[in-house]
Amino acid sequence: MSDLVHIELLPLGKRLEVERGTPLQDVLFAHGVEFPCGGRGRCKGCKVKVIAGSLPITDEDRQKLTAAEVSEGWRLACRGRAETDLRIELAQWEATILTDDTVFAFTPEEGLGIAVDLGTTTIVAQLVDLQTGHVLGVRAALNAQARHGADIMSRVEFAVAGQGQTVLEKLVREQIGQLAQELLTAAGGGGRKVKSVVVVGNSVMHHAFCGISLEPFSHYPFEPVSPGLAVFEATALGWELAGNPTVHFLPCLGSFVGSDILAGLLATRLHEGDQLAALIDLGTNGEIVVGNRERMLCASTAAGPAFEGARISMGMRAATGAISEVRAEAGKLRCHVLGNGVPRGICGSGLVDAVAASLDLGWIKPSGRLAGGESFSLAEPVTLNQWDVRELQLAKGAIAAGLRILLQQWGATKDDLARIYLAGAFGNYINYASANRIGLLDFPSEKVNPSGNTALLGAKLALFSLKEHQGAYPEILAKVRHVSLNEAEGFQDIYVEEMGFPG
Ligand code: FES
Repeated sequence: MSDLVHIELLPLGKRLEVERGTPLQDVLFAHGVEFPCGGRGRCKGCKVKVIAGSLPITDEDRQKLTAAEVSEGWRLACRGRAETDLRIELAQWEATILTDDTVFAFTPEEGLGIAVDLGTTTIVAQLVDLQTGHVLGVRAALNAQARHGADIMSRVEFAVAGQGQTVLEKLVREQIGQLAQELLTAAGGGGRKVKSVVVVGNSVMHHAFCGISLEPFSHYPFEPVSPGLAVFEATALGWELAGNPTVHFLPCLGSFVGSDILAGLLATRLHEGDQLAALIDLGTNGEIVVGNRERMLCASTAAGPAFEGARISMGMRAATGAISEVRAEAGKLRCHVLGNGVPRGICGSGLVDAVAASLDLGWIKPSGRLAGGESFSLAEPVTLNQWDVRELQLAKGAIAAGLRILLQQWGATKDDLARIYLAGAFGNYINYASANRIGLLDFPSEKVNPSGNTALLGAKLALFSLKEHQGAYPEILAKVRHVSLNEAEGFQDIYVEEMGFPG
């Protein structure tokens, strides 16, 4: 029997070849499929319909899906493995737009829309039927600017030296134009016109795309020059899309807090709630919003790239070969490797798990010191060293301290938070118990809501509501105040305090 099996993804028609037994979650994530509860079988957001081949029914399928759904072939992708060739249909791209399990009311319109989440590392674009709200296709790619620096500060450095700004602008405009064209070609177009494109991204991506100088981001006070809504005609960006749509880059919230976070508010509706809630994007530039319908505070933290597996000695992205889960069992560490093959490194979620499990085993002390030397083995040949643990401490300390400061300034404590939305891929994949163990998310688990790619969802929602505000969202911007953490009283002390691990 061949060790490879084939998976066909509908409605995209994409074909994949993977090793037999590979968890579907490991392969589908790379193709834009979201796992809202982090693949724990709790949300049914990942359900797929088996059209050909077989996916055995699991306990979670029986708990989360109706008997009718199960007998029609629906399964939770996160619980399944590719043991046979499979043809599966993805439910999440066909579903009516959902936010927080509520159907988003929208007015159907003629034509197509494209929502783009322009991330520092990854770009994801979705083609949306504005008549039905259905997603007709999705494309994801690594941001072509990444060759000029992995994080936003190195992009800024590149931009201010020589012709860097022009290079970054050209790369990102061309790449998004190409993704949009690919989406239309794959969907067959049928002569339908694209009516609008909504792009969201952090403030540096906003300026780089819009052709606004990145120089102010290279020095204090790191304020964007022109953070507002930017509107272009597609042709002005060099895009030849049917219908020559209007392209909106949504406005930033302040300093490094961009429209990806504004989109996060739209997606989670934090700005409409009566109760106090927090939105946390656990990226390199961890962004936090705290507030409710009355007022909101936002901040960005220099968390560093540890959550993405960068600057970790054997760190890597969440791709095949990455240790993504670690747990302590009988005095040892047990590791899950994405794709089930030989470990090549460790990604962010694995790192958080590894440190949490090692704290339980006493291999790492609450101060962060390794108990027995400078490094230890996770799974041959992957090791974890003192430096790696320090990087994670910096990242988690920055987020925890940022949240504490915002709550303080809001006049609340963490106990007042009714809900914590975790945005971004890492928020989906992080094991909540581990995040809690290392002191990163010190909340009762029922309050924590992994919310997936809220930037993309918010951009998609904006496609339907541009008319009212032309995408400027003045009522949200008027309620949000940006807090500069470095200037906040007591920040350094709180940061140092938050770097330690709970005993
Ligand atoms: S049930 Fe599969 S991701 Fe939530």
